[in-house]
Parts: sequence; structure tokens; C-alpha cells
Amino acid sequence: MTLTGKGKIAGVIGWPIAHSVSPTLHGYWLGEEKVDGALVPLAVKREDFARVVGALQLAGFRGANVTLPHKEAAFALADQCDDAAKAAGAANLLIFHPQGSIEARNTDSVGLRESLRESLGDLKGRAVVLLGAGGAARGAVVALNELGASRVHILNRDPDKAAHVAKALKPMVASTLEAGALEDWPKLAASADLLVNTTSAGMTGHPALALEVAGLKPSAAVMDIVYNPLETPLLTDAKARGHITIDGLGMLMHQAVPSFEAFFGVRPKVTSGLRKHLERSLNA
Ligand code: ATR
Repeated sequence: MTLTGKGKIAGVIGWPIAHSVSPTLHGYWLGEEKVDGALVPLAVKREDFARVVGALQLAGFRGANVTLPHKEAAFALADQCDDAAKAAGAANLLIFHPQGSIEARNTDSVGLRESLRESLGDLKGRAVVLLGAGGAARGAVVALNELGASRVHILNRDPDKAAHVAKALKPMVASTLEAGALEDWPKLAASADLLVNTTSAGMTGHPALALEVAGLKPSAAVMDIVYNPLETPLLTDAKARGHITIDGLGMLMHQAVPSFEAFFGVRPKVTSGLRKHLERSLNA
């Protein structure tokens, strides 16, 4: 690492923070782009979040990435925010502007959009089934709309939450939004062009999704935003049936691009070298 007194400093704030991949990701790009700067992991308790953000601003930080449990608080304290943050009610990027204002963005939505675009191109006229109704699902709706999806059917274990998300986001998107329960999947499988999982099911330490890919047309793709493990049971099932699969690492890499650019002034590239670097780090 090269860091001088003029170095550009940003943080990543969470509790806990030791598991965060962001320092590894940004560290790779800082080296590649030969930037005089650093992304510092900061373990901050929920009740201290706002005070720490104020202190980082005073200390000249460029901004911070924000992870659990602070994403809603980050959104709440910002002076301005993008559509994805508004839709999710949560932000994972805070940019500290020199005049003192704080901008919040939800780059998870950008990451999902760019990962899908890289693998599938746009989604004009396509029907998507989206699993989950949390903050990640809300950001995904914005991303799918931006890619031109004609219909997004939101399915959740608790269908009331899916209905709530569809109702709340309808005014923000051109895609037709529908909602239902996970049990509706078999009826929808044949007409879906893309299945996206935004639930935490399938993540290490969590149960797998109680859902089979069976019935999906051969040309349809399956994406899982979980990256730990890289191949979730859902993706293993989809791969075995010959579908295009998209793992969570693409979204993870792409969500970091706008943050790195905002902090360090260079737009970094998502490359196979970065993917290999992260795969090694996740496997370590
Ligand atoms: P995030 O903000 O990351 O989306 P969240 O708000 O905690 O996280 O949402 C987690 C999502 O995963 C929810 O949609 C949740 O379903 P419920 O709303 O019914 O709780 C979903 N989820 C978690 N575990 C699941 C499981 N085992 N099977 C199906 N869905 C699950």
C-alpha cells in the first residue's frame, strides 16, 4: 500500500466488520490504479453510527461504504439520495461533499443491474420472478426496471411483504409489478425469462431455498445475489438443468465501482483478475 499525507481516505462501516470484502476489493483496485489512498474498515455500533459519520466528515474522509446494520440509518441521515436508495429505504454508499452535505446511494442496485447486463444484456420485454421482499429486493426492482423488464413478479415467504413492496414501488417503475407467495413459483416458472434470488436462503449457515428450478424454460437464466457460497444450492440446481447462472460475485464487484470512483476519482474495471482475487480471498 502506498499512502502519503495527501492520501484519499474512505471507510467501510459495519458491525461486525471483520467479514467485509470491501477492503480486499478496494485494495485490489488501489494497487491496480496506483492510487494514493485507503479504505479503512470501521467497526461501529448501531448507536454510534451518526456520531462516527460526523467525525469522519470532520477528519476529511471522502465518504464511506455502509453495511449491516447501518444501511437504513445511512439513508436517513443523508441530504440527498438516488432512486435506488429511495426505493430500498437504505443506502450502502455515503459521499461527503466538500461543502458539508452528505449524498446517499444504493449501489447494490447498480451492482445487480450491471452484473445482469454483463451476462444477459438488457431485459426489454422479459418477465422476471424475484424472490424476497427485503431491502435487496427493493433495489433489485429498480435495477430490473432500468434494464427494461416488462414484468417483475415478487414472491416472498411472507406474501404480505411482497404485496407491500409491489404497491410501494409501482409509482417509481414502468415494469408491471405483481406479488405472491413462494408457493406460486411452479405456476410462474414456465413464463419466466429470469429468476433472481435476493433472499438470504442458501447463504452459508442458512437453510437452502425450498424451491426447485424445474419448469423453467431452457433459455431462462437464474441469478443468486448470495456470494457465500459462490454456488448456492439454487445455482447448482439451475446449472444441472442447463440454465445460464449468475452468481453473487458479479454484483459484489459491480456495486463497488461507483464507490471507488466517488472516493478515489478513478473509475475501476471489473476484470477476471479481480474475480480470481476475490475468489481466493473468499476461499481462504
Ligand atoms: P435484505 O435487506 O438483505 O433484503 P431482509 O430485509 O432481512 O434482508 O430480507 C430477507 C429476505 O429473505 C426476506 O424476503 C425473507 O423472507 P420473509 O420476509 O418472509 O422473512 C427472506 N428469507 C430469509 N430466509 C428465508 C428462507 N429460509 N426461505 C425463504 N425466504 C427467506
